[in-house]
Amino acid sequence: MDLNWIEKLLARMTLEEKLGQMTMSPAGAAATGPIRGEATTESVRAGKVGSLLNLWGREATDRFQKLAVEETRLGIPLFFGVDVLHGHRTVFPIPLAEASVFDPDLWERTARAAAREAAADGVDLTFAPMLDTTRDPRWGRMAEGFGEDPLVGARFAAAKVRGFQGGDLASPGALAATAKHFCCGGAALAGREYAAADMSERTLHETYLPPFRAAVEAGCAAIMSAFNSLGGVPMTAHVPLLRSYLRGKLGFDGVIMSDYAAIEELIDHGVAADRAEAAGLALKAGVDIDMVSGVYLAALPEALSRGLAELKDIDAAVRRILTLKMKLGLFDDPYRRTKGARSASRAAKKLALDVARRAITLLANDGILPLGENIRRIAVVGPLAEAREEMVGPWTLAGDPRQCATILDGLRAALPEREIHCQLGVTIAGDDESGIAAARALCQNADAAILCLGEAANMSGEAASRARPELPGRQRQLAEAVLSSGRPVVALLSSGRPLIVPFLAERARALVATWFLGAGAGEAIAEVLTGRFDPTGRLPVTWPLDVGQIPVFFAERPAARPANPTDPFTSKYIDLPNEPLFPFGHGLSYAQVKLDNLRLAHAEFRRGDRIRVAIDAQNLSDRPAFETIFLFSRDCVATAAPPVLELKNWAKVKLAARQKRTVRFALAAEDLSCLDADLRPMLEPGDFDIFVGLNADRRFLLSAPLRCLD
Ligand code: BGC
Repeated sequence: MDLNWIEKLLARMTLEEKLGQMTMSPAGAAATGPIRGEATTESVRAGKVGSLLNLWGREATDRFQKLAVEETRLGIPLFFGVDVLHGHRTVFPIPLAEASVFDPDLWERTARAAAREAAADGVDLTFAPMLDTTRDPRWGRMAEGFGEDPLVGARFAAAKVRGFQGGDLASPGALAATAKHFCCGGAALAGREYAAADMSERTLHETYLPPFRAAVEAGCAAIMSAFNSLGGVPMTAHVPLLRSYLRGKLGFDGVIMSDYAAIEELIDHGVAADRAEAAGLALKAGVDIDMVSGVYLAALPEALSRGLAELKDIDAAVRRILTLKMKLGLFDDPYRRTKGARSASRAAKKLALDVARRAITLLANDGILPLGENIRRIAVVGPLAEAREEMVGPWTLAGDPRQCATILDGLRAALPEREIHCQLGVTIAGDDESGIAAARALCQNADAAILCLGEAANMSGEAASRARPELPGRQRQLAEAVLSSGRPVVALLSSGRPLIVPFLAERARALVATWFLGAGAGEAIAEVLTGRFDPTGRLPVTWPLDVGQIPVFFAERPAARPANPTDPFTSKYIDLPNEPLFPFGHGLSYAQVKLDNLRLAHAEFRRGDRIRVAIDAQNLSDRPAFETIFLFSRDCVATAAPPVLELKNWAKVKLAARQKRTVRFALAAEDLSCLDADLRPMLEPGDFDIFVGLNADRRFLLSAPLRCLD
């Protein structure tokens, strides 16, 4: 089966059959948007559907596949797409939590494990990875991605594509990956879901496109255009970015699909007067598949007759769709993925626990953690303590919450000899405060309180923007009561984004970001609190002190008058510090590592050179240390104002108790390039600074000067 064969098949297809291939319809198992136009036996049999979304399970997928293969005129198989974002049957930590592990190998392994499970369930394609750069925690979809930095995003993208797709898309355990949402949804106006984005071309190319470029370079099979507009042009109809950039410049020849009903929504954007215009615009931009709106099938014939669309674009789209089906091996054997299907595996569960423990990020600790032997009576309070269903996080379609141990379960299992009592105090978002007094009383009688706070799973993810990403409901009141009990308090935050909680950072004895950790949640949290596992998570996003600082991220450009505490006429707030609560990369462990002696092999370099950087890392404690060391650069003088810090690399190092060792980094000279006036990479001669440290707080970075000679 080759491209020639596809041409022959295309030549036999009617217009309606072609439009059917370009139509993706929802089917049954889950609703990820407003339900309309569900696939039916009749529509599949009539060849009006080329792919289905939101359907999994061997029996269901095989049944639809049989209809397509045996009862349509041409017997073209369907493909099945599902949002497999953080596990399928086995639930892994949300992507933001996974990102905090800063380990591409791990990112790849979780995608691989999820792909195997989903493929066994009849899924051919995942709507993942989510590659929006996110610098605004009001936007709930921060939970689905890698955070704020484009280099992290690029490595995350490549790892996820490799993991989902494996070496061969046709292998029974492989899924086609869909890089989404192309692009800039993370820059939605004021963090409001589906809102417009607007930015300079430079920021677009520096910050938002690199993860997508990395996905394309890794061979990603599909791309989903975003709901939002960018600079006034909805991404579903964005000719310069979809056609000129993706197809033209990057040479992407896979499938582009719309987001859910987004083609029809071109009417809401105000760029199309009716469905035929909407269909014409999306097709012209290069969108091959219409997810859910049914507009291609219903209105492209009219668009053709009104001269709004061209048949050659339809043919090109169908060619790409059929090619994807061929690469997925569906023409050879449409049931290849479900044959010998296995559901959730024990290995996946083990991996989920491993990621969960590694993702937990210790934000503050005065030494109360790990919990000492002297803490015999423990009060577990707060609405997340027993919230099994919330542990699965926002994008779990097939994962059963019963696989997740709660925080309370985890603690009880890990500390069987201690006295552990629980009072939730309040619900996650309700306004009933009547349980607070009992929760406080429980704490007063305990040696320490574990305060389990945070969001419900559905408070992050899609359509979950929060103008005030704080503790919802009456949790603040509960926290205040517990903090005033006089007992030491360890606060845990379950969330899909940083929450604004400076009072906890100040008054709790320890503060821990536990994200949404999936299957391993309870066990992993207990392992970290008891010190059986040293926390290794590092923030992939800057954690704001106040909502008024948003967006706050480490790579901002210099201000005209950089902040100076003694000069009022500098770039600062008069009512808030500029500094976030916690910087990008922040995360404590129970060991303490000191960095010094930053040095460069050469203080000068030329194009094509390798830049070698070394630093000594010393474990000052009596327990092993697992540290993440970040390398940043700054271009001191450039044609376009360069960011004050740019992440260039990171290293994860293990140090035995008291061990000291040298950690080395190598950069290519070109890694220090900026974009010229035409947004092409250019290495500018002149001065740079290299910075190395444990996070992006510039006050604590070690630095060394470096000069580019030509
Ligand atoms: C979301 C996508 C998702 C799609 C299908 C949309 O509403 O924006 O991320 O892949 O639904 O479920």
